[in-house]
Amino acid sequence: MNSQQIITLTIPTTIRFGCGAVKELPDYLNKRSLSRPLVVTDPTIAQLPFFKEIVADLERAGISVVVFSDTHKNPVKSDVYKGTEVWDSTDRDSIVGIGGGAALDIARAITLRVHHREDLFKYDDLIGGDVYVTNEVPPFITIPTTSGTGSEVGRSAIIADDETHQKRILFSPKLMAQIVFADPLLTMGLPPHITAATGMDALTHNMEAFLAKNPNPICDGIALEGMYLIAHSLEKAVLDPDENSRSNMLMASMMGAIAFQKGLGVVHSLAHPLSSLLDTHHGLANAVNIPYGMGFNIAGFEDKFKRIAHTLELPKENGESVVQYLFDLNARIGIPRKLREIGVKEEHLDPLADLAVADFAHPNNPKPVSRNDFRILYEQAY
Ligand SMILES: [Fe+2]
Repeated sequence: MNSQQIITLTIPTTIRFGCGAVKELPDYLNKRSLSRPLVVTDPTIAQLPFFKEIVADLERAGISVVVFSDTHKNPVKSDVYKGTEVWDSTDRDSIVGIGGGAALDIARAITLRVHHREDLFKYDDLIGGDVYVTNEVPPFITIPTTSGTGSEVGRSAIIADDETHQKRILFSPKLMAQIVFADPLLTMGLPPHITAATGMDALTHNMEAFLAKNPNPICDGIALEGMYLIAHSLEKAVLDPDENSRSNMLMASMMGAIAFQKGLGVVHSLAHPLSSLLDTHHGLANAVNIPYGMGFNIAGFEDKFKRIAHTLELPKENGESVVQYLFDLNARIGIPRKLREIGVKEEHLDPLADLAVADFAHPNNPKPVSRNDFRILYEQAY
């Protein structure tokens, strides 16, 4: 730590965590005289029994529920505008986001838009738009249903342009949920391949955050414990899930999202272009790339890798054994070893490298990454 540098450390909001936590939602709303929530989710979750039960519990408690679920798999601006129209036409007083990263991003963006009606992308943080987030926002509550993005504890929403697919980041401390109900029972039904991919996304968040170059010892501590929990739970959660492994994965995914306020790194910049170019699942893209990206990061950061290896309880405490661990873990949970196995073709490697070097994540990588480095990493992973 450099004691001459003044840094910002933000710890997130109240989290009610544990099996059955979501049952507290009706009482929470009633105690705050919130009786008309707009519930935002995605079309798949809207059909699931646990979602219908949440709505039924709210209605039984005398709460008027309007559900908005007309959303895309990767959130776009028009999803946010449509949701805001529902808010306008149905006299709502609060927003409850229920789902994975996409649904929660849309819910958070609607929360912003309710009292910020300029063009949505005027508020894009990458062009300094957060300074325009000056009005109040309605009470916002998040309920995660996957263990990956940790979006429930975040303060930003990634929303793409409908036509260009360019991703924009809406960010403001005001967009943090006022409470999170994190209930592992909602994640019990996730199929193995989604559990594996989202779990590897959470591991990537913790590992990249720990390595990210900005100083933040609080986040470093959270990231190490997040990795420890995942090392002890992910395989079980994929192959033979129980409440304990699901709980640990849900906790570790929130820890990853808290930790990555420090920044991410080369692996996320390798992964993002796969999603924009080939619609690859974000977690899967990270999972395949993480052993290669971590291999790139070892030289010069041997001490940090030693601490990761120690946390993962590896027999040899060095970077090479961390990389081998990642290959082995991927194999055990059914993640392919090569990009060619997930639809990438050789002619994609150059366009992918162009997109990766323009990505927002790698400037926080512990060491600089050039376009040529990205091209070599994609070649290795291919
Ligand atoms: Fe991620």
